Amino acid sequence: MLVLGIETSCDETALALVERGRPLGQSLSTQADVHSLFGGVVPEIASREHLRMIAALGRRLFDETGRRPLDLAGIAVARGPGLLGSLLVGLGYAKGLALSTGAPLVGVNHLHAHLLAPNLEREVVYPALGLLISGGHTQIYRMNGPLDFIRLGRTLDDAVGEAFDKAAKALNLPYPGGRVIDELAARGMPDPNLFPRPYLDNDNLDFSFSGLKTAVANYVAAHPGLRRKRFFCHAPGPDEADSLLCDMLASFSLSVAETLSVKVARALDRTGAVHSLVVAGGVAANSVIRARMAELAEERGIELVLPSPALCTDNALMVARAGHHLLEAGCCHGLDLDAVPRGRSVPRDYSPVRLDRAPCE
Ligand code: KG4
Ligand code: ZN
Repeated sequence: MLVLGIETSCDETALALVERGRPLGQSLSTQADVHSLFGGVVPEIASREHLRMIAALGRRLFDETGRRPLDLAGIAVARGPGLLGSLLVGLGYAKGLALSTGAPLVGVNHLHAHLLAPNLEREVVYPALGLLISGGHTQIYRMNGPLDFIRLGRTLDDAVGEAFDKAAKALNLPYPGGRVIDELAARGMPDPNLFPRPYLDNDNLDFSFSGLKTAVANYVAAHPGLRRKRFFCHAPGPDEADSLLCDMLASFSLSVAETLSVKVARALDRTGAVHSLVVAGGVAANSVIRARMAELAEERGIELVLPSPALCTDNALMVARAGHHLLEAGCCHGLDLDAVPRGRSVPRDYSPVRLDRAPCE
């Protein structure tokens, strides 16, 4: 089964093919450079860039893989949550292709797609506990199978990726800040008492990172020398990195990793036996968090499942893989499929797949 995945929910335009659930190829263009000029994603620019790139990326994908649109057994598109204008570009492209090829269309929950990314590389044994940490979301799920996710906890304010990006912005480091902070933190020595472990003094599985953001802002205000001179400058290289800056970022990363780990440990205590701990989303590329989650999984005797870094950030392979599971289970959508903006939950409003596929001439 050849499935096309389409991802346009934020600032990556990506199309990918999976065959029998395995990656065949991907064509991806990131807009990070454009948005870095503004210190964050500008929604109107994002949709225009998706529109500018999507058809060319699609052509390149089919050329490079030697496949044709008429070979498709299904078309999976990220339908949300995300930036509405950006999602609509992906949806429009997907619907046009579905109409012209007759291939079934299925809308994919972008968050579930992140959690299914590791399935592209290995077999994941369920039930699993899933931690999704991205630029827009921070959530804990019980995953009974690839299509049966129950949300156990979520962030009440900022997502963990936002905490990284805003810390970077406060220091005049480039956008998106997570990767740069990760690199600088690796050169520093963490002080475990420098920053709080926010929102742990409660009995739930939710997160709140706004207090940590304020603690970082206060620390930077008290140490203005930490700020890079010019905004939008390149990240400091090994010879120019200020050791106080690296130490501070190591302390910040430790605080985030330990906060996540306390709530994940609590979720493991409560959810009943699981085989695996799946950690996915852009922030799952973070080395401090990966190391902390590895320790936790080892303590609990469960398997840690981490996608390789390229599959952590937004990509279309994960969307295609999620579509593969949905289509295999007989789920699809009509051409009236709606986009779901950030802040709304994605409905499970599937229709049965039509098997009498009739491509248009
Ligand atoms: O999943 P993703 O590509 O997009 C969303 O769906 O939001 O995640 C992007 C986020 C950004 O906040 C970025 O700063 C963060 O992932 N990120 C990282 C790292 N690489 C990307 N955060 C911490 N450490 C990293 N190595
Ligand atoms: Zn994402």
